[in-house]
Amino acid sequence: MRFVFLGLPGAGKGTQARILSERLGIPAISTGDILREHVQAGTRLGVEARTSMDRGEYVPDRLVVRMVEERLREPDAGKGFILDGFPRTVPQAQALEDALAELGTPLTAVVKFAISDRTAILRITGRYTCPVCKRTYHKELSPPETDLQCDFDATPLEKRSDEDELTVKRRLAIYRQQTEPLELFYWERGLLREVEAEGPKQEVTRAMLAAIEDVSA
Ligand code: AP5
Repeated sequence: MRFVFLGLPGAGKGTQARILSERLGIPAISTGDILREHVQAGTRLGVEARTSMDRGEYVPDRLVVRMVEERLREPDAGKGFILDGFPRTVPQAQALEDALAELGTPLTAVVKFAISDRTAILRITGRYTCPVCKRTYHKELSPPETDLQCDFDATPLEKRSDEDELTVKRRLAIYRQQTEPLELFYWERGLLREVEAEGPKQEVTRAMLAAIEDVSA
C-alpha cells in the first residue's frame, strides 16, 4: 500500500503517519524529518535546504525529488510507504507519478487532513518534538508526562526553527499557493480522500482508518 498524506502544517500528518505505519508495517517517510537530519548533519543538501526551511519556504523541487527517489529505492519501501510532506508541488507530484509508473507501483490513495488556519497556528506554535524518535507533543493539547522530556526515551524536547507565528503564517500561505492545487491533481485521478482533522487524535485516527478501509483491509 502506498499513501500520500496532505494537509496544512499542524494537520497531524506526522502524528497519524506514525500510527498507520505501525499498524500496516510500512515506513512513514517524512521529507521534513529527512531534510532536518541533513541540516543537522551539515551535508551539502542540508546547507542548501536550511535557508528555505528557516523561512518556512519550500526547498527546491530538484533537491527534494532526488532525495525521495533515493529513499523509495531502500528495501523497506518495497512493501509500501506513507509519504508525509511529499509531494508538495505539482512538479513533485508529476515526478512521483512518473517514478512509480516506471516501477509499476502506483499510489493506493491520497489522504488530506483538513483543519482551519487557526488550529494550524495553535498546534504548531505549541508543538515540541523529540529530536531522537521524532514524536511530537503539545504544551497544552498533549503535554509529555515529565516537563519538556520525551515520554519514550527521556530526551529533552526541542522547538523547530520554523514554529513562530509569523513563519507559520508564511507556511500556510505557501501551502495555499503551491500545495493546494495537488488536491485537484489527485481528485482527477480518483485518489483523494478527505479526513476531518479538527478533533482529538484518536478521533482523527478513526476517521483516517475509515477513509482508507476499502484499500487497506
Ligand atoms: P514538514 O516537517 O513536513 O512540516 P509540515 O508539513 O509543515 O508539517 P508539520 O510537521 O509542521 O505538521 P504535521 O501535519 O506533521 O503535524 P503534527 O503531526 O506534527 O516540513 C518542514 C519544512 O521542510 C517545509 O516548510 C519545507 O521548507 C521543507 N520541506 C519538507 N518537505 C518538502 C517538500 N516536499 N518540498 C519542499 N520543501 C519541503 O502535529 C502538529 C502538533 O499538533 C503536534 O504538537 C501534535 O502533537 C499536535 N496534534 C496532532 N494532531 C492533533 C489532534 N488531532 N488534536 C490535538 N493535537 C494534535
